[in-house]
Amino acid sequence: MARLLAIIVLLTAPIICAAASLTRVGLKRWSDDEHPFDTVTIEGPDGSIRSRHLSLGATTINMWVPDKYGQMRDLVAGYDNLTMYLNGTRYFGPVVGRYANRIKNGTFSIPPTRYTPTSGPNVYHIPTNENNGADTLHGGIDGFDHRTWVIDAQTSNSVTYSYVDPDGREGFPGTVTTYVTYTLHNGSTWSFKMSASADSATPILLSSHDYWNFDAWNESTSIMNYTLQLSGSRVIETDGILVPTGGLQDVSGTAYDFRTARTIGSMFNDTAGFCGTGCEGYDTCWIYDDVPGRGAEPKMSVWSGNSGIRLDIWSNQPAAQVYTCNGIQTANVTMPRKADQGGPGAVYENHSCMVIEQEGWIDAINNPQWGQDQIYGPGRGYLWTSTYRFSIQQ
Ligand SMILES: *[C@@H]1O[C@H](CO)[C@@H](O)[C@H](O)[C@H]1NC(C)=O
Ligand SMILES: *[C@@H]1O[C@H](CO)[C@@H](O)[C@H](O)[C@H]1NC(C)=O
Ligand SMILES: *[C@@H]1O[C@H](CO)[C@@H](O)[C@H](O)[C@H]1NC(C)=O
Ligand SMILES: *[C@@H]1O[C@H](CO)[C@@H](O)[C@H](O)[C@H]1NC(C)=O
Ligand SMILES: *[C@@H]1O[C@H](CO)[C@@H](O)[C@H](O)[C@H]1NC(C)=O
Ligand SMILES: *[C@@H]1O[C@H](CO)[C@@H](O)[C@H](O)[C@H]1NC(C)=O
Ligand SMILES: *[C@@H]1O[C@H](CO)[C@@H](O)[C@H](O)[C@H]1NC(C)=O
Ligand SMILES: *[C@@H]1O[C@H](CO)[C@@H](O)[C@H](O)[C@H]1NC(C)=O
Ligand SMILES: *[C@@H]1O[C@H](CO)[C@@H](O)[C@H](O)[C@H]1NC(C)=O
Repeated sequence: MARLLAIIVLLTAPIICAAASLTRVGLKRWSDDEHPFDTVTIEGPDGSIRSRHLSLGATTINMWVPDKYGQMRDLVAGYDNLTMYLNGTRYFGPVVGRYANRIKNGTFSIPPTRYTPTSGPNVYHIPTNENNGADTLHGGIDGFDHRTWVIDAQTSNSVTYSYVDPDGREGFPGTVTTYVTYTLHNGSTWSFKMSASADSATPILLSSHDYWNFDAWNESTSIMNYTLQLSGSRVIETDGILVPTGGLQDVSGTAYDFRTARTIGSMFNDTAGFCGTGCEGYDTCWIYDDVPGRGAEPKMSVWSGNSGIRLDIWSNQPAAQVYTCNGIQTANVTMPRKADQGGPGAVYENHSCMVIEQEGWIDAINNPQWGQDQIYGPGRGYLWTSTYRFSIQQ
């Protein structure tokens, strides 16, 4: 009980927490059940951005940036206590892996094959956790989002987490060691990096799974009036349960086309089925166009007129998933908002948030015809880097 109280205090007292975790810095390894609720608060040197992270899932709990009035707002969905992080709806702000998004029938082979056989010496089965066993979501029943990461290093503006995923856990071959570093820079800039190495051949696809509302659920909870620009002229075609079919679709003339900035709501009525059978909204993987000499141009931008907050994204990843929180609030599933977003009385409503994930092409391990090599191992490390810069839309 004392321990439970202690961890609740840690979670609810950010300043104390940050100080407490400082004493633990330095490559100390814990067993899996220890310290999942240590939190760390970091801040950009100029005070223009501040965030808080949790060892469970290397989760982002809060992300504060200034609005057009100069007030800091917390833009990400999350929970105020650890019961909710452990026992509430999953994937609120963590790292997802070892293989994010969906794996068809929870099965793949190494090397990948287009029509993966159900058995064979190089065929792997990951526990299925969605759609009555038809696929695996986010790395299995016990994905990276629910593991206890170790705080390896910390400064006032950065934190590095690591996690060693043993050979065979959730059915994946090979031990994978992953490092995730979050760094906050001057000018409201969040850089993050995920690097992983494997001791034998295994698929890796990591992402971060943050739910954004660029008004911080203040003037409006709806994301429909946000303007989105995304330089992708193709999306990955998916079936009625969001598993890739193997096809790619041109966005021209469809509600997928955000190459020219427009509001998320402007063609929402044309998105029926985009997020699966009977579902309206986006849950889509866009393939970024390979623009020669793109350089300074962000791959994706989104902003809200109410708060004035704009996010520009640069990434080394070839694709981005956007999920517009379709169906997150149902009769028997509700997620209380954090107190600084009107909770716990108010809840996270349908279409009141958007998940933005920089990632590889989803389920490419069952679609070798795409030419995306997602098998890593000795001599081939995995590296994911992204920069999210917040500013005020002029
Ligand atoms: C960041 O801002 C701080 C405080 O304004 C300043 O001291 C520091 O030089 C800045 N760092 C960089 C890299 O510009
Ligand atoms: C909404 O944002 C405004 C402007 O920053 C702020 O003054 C106000 O306190 C916010 N309201 C809530 C409920 O957070
Ligand atoms: C989560 O739920 C389990 C099973 O109901 C319970 O044993 C555990 O105490 C809960 N954890 C927290 C932190 O509340
Ligand atoms: C899915 O994989 C299982 C083995 O885990 C196999 O028995 C089944 O036939 C596969 N289903 C399809 C549709 O390929
Ligand atoms: C979107 O903006 C329009 C025009 O400014 C406004 O009439 C409408 O109420 C807004 N909708 C939402 C959901 O905020
Ligand atoms: C979408 O459909 C609703 C209900 O039919 C309608 O009120 C709304 O104006 C439509 N929105 C757009 C952007 O066409
Ligand atoms: C949210 O969406 C789900 C799925 O479409 C639907 O079942 C539910 O009724 C919606 N919730 C509300 C409050 O409209
Ligand atoms: C929600 O309630 C329905 C009907 O009681 C049930 O079939 C379903 O499994 C419940 N869903 C969850 C996630 O508990
Ligand atoms: C955790 O938060 C939820 C939602 O705000 C609340 O219902 C629950 O009582 C809280 N649990 C604890 C242990 O504080």
